[in-house]
Amino acid sequence: RQGLIDIPVVVHVVHSSPEQNVSDAQIHSQIDVLNRDFRASNPDVSQVPAVWQDLVADARLQFHLARTDPLGRPTDGITRTESAVDDWDTDDLVKFSLSGGQDAWPADIYLNLWVCQLRRGLLGYAQFPGGAASTDGVVVTHTALGTTGTATAPFDGGRTAVHEIGHWLNLRHIWGDDDEGCSGSDFVADTPNQAGANTGRPAFPHVTCNNGPDGDMFMNYMDYTDDAAMFMFTKGQSARMDATLDNARLTLTR
Ligand code: ARG
Ligand code: ZN
Ligand code: CA
Repeated sequence: RQGLIDIPVVVHVVHSSPEQNVSDAQIHSQIDVLNRDFRASNPDVSQVPAVWQDLVADARLQFHLARTDPLGRPTDGITRTESAVDDWDTDDLVKFSLSGGQDAWPADIYLNLWVCQLRRGLLGYAQFPGGAASTDGVVVTHTALGTTGTATAPFDGGRTAVHEIGHWLNLRHIWGDDDEGCSGSDFVADTPNQAGANTGRPAFPHVTCNNGPDGDMFMNYMDYTDDAAMFMFTKGQSARMDATLDNARLTLTR
């Protein structure tokens, strides 16, 4: 694919306290990060080890807050819902007004991004392509949203939403989701086989699964490293996201 795809996003803020009711500025800072990272125009891409510089992908995706709502009325692309529920889990209750959350907008037109307080230290979660429209989209805890406001180190770089949108476009975790084994795959050819998740800010190289001398690509958005330690998608991952946008999520591109 040559051109850019520009995806309309609706951000649903579901809050039970003033701090959970994140500012427009915090939401805009998140959109800015998406527009940088999915074009490989993030300054820290220069930290990708030389051996992998050729694999860095410009995913050619852009994101904008929705300008019209499902009824065709002008909108700022943000819904705000006051809730009696203090925090949420991965059970999708935040995605329904009946359970104190906010209903999805049509998932064939919008990327739904719910912002709320998640429990158990969860940063976010996503629905892969092919699921129910009513729960489709990504959820990000407010302290990992964007780069300002309540965003809190080490997850204050807006990379949780980058990672979750990767899942939403069918990317798997780079270690293949088999914990520390070497048999799991992310179904992407140009990412090294890697044992398990990396966290924090690893030192290069970190060799597992006989993937030396270069080791794990822990600076990939689909690992579990800190926001300041992840800064690339590969060309193979970009091709996989493209395939999703050509098939399961084709309607989003029109
Ligand atoms: N734990 C989450 C998931 O598996 C997100 C991890 C995001 N990492 C980050 N550095 N922001 O979907
Ligand atoms: Zn993940
Ligand atoms: Ca593995």
